[in-house]
Amino acid sequence: MSLKNRDLTFIAIVASVFGVFYLISGDIKTARVPYDDNHKQYLAVVQSDGKIAAEKFCGKCHKPEGPAPLPKDQNHSVQARCLICHKWQEH
Ligand code: HEC
Ligand code: HEC
Repeated sequence: MSLKNRDLTFIAIVASVFGVFYLISGDIKTARVPYDDNHKQYLAVVQSDGKIAAEKFCGKCHKPEGPAPLPKDQNHSVQARCLICHKWQEH
């Protein structure tokens, strides 16, 4: 019995390691913040004041009634910390 529990613990650890790899690789699929006239001024805000300061502006356009509403999925159910998931496009 105790052996079985240890097996389960091992499986859980292996599974969470793969989970972390999956999250990291998810980076590649996550849409990048475009380096365009709508966005590039916020990269400057990131560089001077940090990500949290820059994220305050995203909702201006990416709100439900804005020009670019967010996808309705679990990634966007809370309006927070966009730049943890979204990297900037190369430029
Ligand atoms: C002035 C309006 C405006 C602001 C402010 C804004 N965006 Fe956008 N964003 C847009 C528009 C319009 C699009 C869709 C067209 C495009 O790709 O430019 C877009 C597209 C995107 C995309 C998707 C790109 C793709 O490949 O589909 C991401 C990611 C994004 N914005 C993130 C952000 C983040 C993060 C912030 C805050 C730092 C932000 N935006 C602030 C207008 C804005
Ligand atoms: C938990 C991670 C996560 C967070 C936090 C997050 N996003 Fe996303 N976002 C994604 C992923 C993954 C995609 C690509 C798949 C999809 O469309 O949902 C995406 C897609 C997008 C798109 C493109 C939609 C399209 O149709 O191409 C925009 C715009 C966007 N996000 C903006 C934002 C903004 C603005 C915030 C902050 C309010 C934000 N996201 C927060 C993970 C996240």
